[in-house]
Amino acid sequence: MNVAVLAGDGIGPEITTQAIKVLEVFKKEGLDLQFEYAPIGGAGFDAYGSPYPEATQNICRKADAVLLGAVGGPQYDNLDRPLRPERGLLAIRKDLNLFANLRPAILYPELANASSLKPEIVAGLDIMIVRELTGDIYFGEPRGIQTNDKGEQEGINTMRYCESEIKRIAHIAFQIAQKRHKKVCSVDKANVLETTELWRQIFTQISKEYPDVELSHMYVDNAAMQLVRAPKQFDVIATGNIFGDILSDEASMLTGSIGMLPSASLNETGKGLYEPSHGSAPDIAGQDKANPLATILSAAMMLRYSFHQEDAAKRIETAVQKVLQAGLRTPDIHEDGCQLVGCNNMGDAVVNAL
Ligand code: IPM
Ligand code: MG
Repeated sequence: MNVAVLAGDGIGPEITTQAIKVLEVFKKEGLDLQFEYAPIGGAGFDAYGSPYPEATQNICRKADAVLLGAVGGPQYDNLDRPLRPERGLLAIRKDLNLFANLRPAILYPELANASSLKPEIVAGLDIMIVRELTGDIYFGEPRGIQTNDKGEQEGINTMRYCESEIKRIAHIAFQIAQKRHKKVCSVDKANVLETTELWRQIFTQISKEYPDVELSHMYVDNAAMQLVRAPKQFDVIATGNIFGDILSDEASMLTGSIGMLPSASLNETGKGLYEPSHGSAPDIAGQDKANPLATILSAAMMLRYSFHQEDAAKRIETAVQKVLQAGLRTPDIHEDGCQLVGCNNMGDAVVNAL
C-alpha cells in the first residue's frame, strides 16, 4: 500500500503530519503502508518551478493512493495562472483521472451548535455529494480570454460533458446510494443548459440498472435553496464539476465546520486522492491552530476506498467521535465548556483513542 503524501502549503504540513501519525498506528499493527513524500502547489513551485512537478507526477502515478494536505497561499497569487497552486490540484485530478469526487457532509451530534442553522434542521445530517471532477466548464475547450471582432476583450469557458463521462459518474452515485439510504438526487440546470439536459437523460437511463435506488432530479438553484431549507431530504447528491464545487461548500457549512470534512477523488481502478475539503488557511499556518480531523478522516476514506480496510476506517471514525465526545476542540469548532487544543494535541488524542 504505497501512499504518496503531498503536504502542500499553509496548514497542509501540520494536518498531514497528524493523519500520518494515525496511519502509523495501523502500520505498527501490521498493515503494509509505505509513505513517499513529494511537493505540490506552492511547495512544488518553490522546489521545482511547477505546481505539479514531474518528480511528484512520477511518485503519484506509481502510488496506490495519494494523501494531500492543501494548496495555495497569498505569496503565489500573482504568479501566472498555469503556475498557481490551484493548477497543481486540477493537474493531478486530470493526470490520475480522478473523476469521482466524494464529499460527505456529516453533522456530528457534538457539534450541532456549530451550525448556523437551527439544530433541529441539521441534527443527524448525513449527505454524500458525488461531484464529477475531471470534466465540465473546468476543463472544456475552447477557453481563454481573447479580443472579439468589436475589439473588445471576451472571456470564454465551455461547459461540456460527453455521454461516457456522465455514465461513469452516474454508476458511482447509484452504487454509493445502494450502500446508504438508496436515494440519488441528480442536480442540473436542464431548463437552461443543454449539457445538463444530456446529464439528466443519462442519469434517467442508468437508473434503470439500479431499481432499488430512487432517482430524483433538481435544478441547481433549487438545490442550493433546499440545502439550507431542509437538508435532511438528501441522501446522495450527484452533480457536475462546477455545481458540485459550489454545493459542496454550502453543504459543508451546514455541519458548522469545513475543518471536519474529508473527501475522496477516485478513478476507475479505485486509486484515489484523499484530502480535506478545506483550504490551506495561510492565516493560521504554522501556529498549531488548524483542525486536523478532516485530514484524519480523509485517511480513513483512503483505507476504505483504496485499500478495502473497512474496519480500520471505522475505527478512525469512531476515535474521532470519541475525541469530540471527550470535549476536545480546535479553535474552529471551540465553544464554552470544551477543552481548546492545538493541531498536534488533537492528532495525539485521536491516536490515544485508537
Ligand atoms: C475545491 C476547490 C478547487 C475546485 C479549486 C482550489 C481549484 O475549490 O476542491 O473545491 O474548484 O475544485
Ligand atoms: Mg471548492
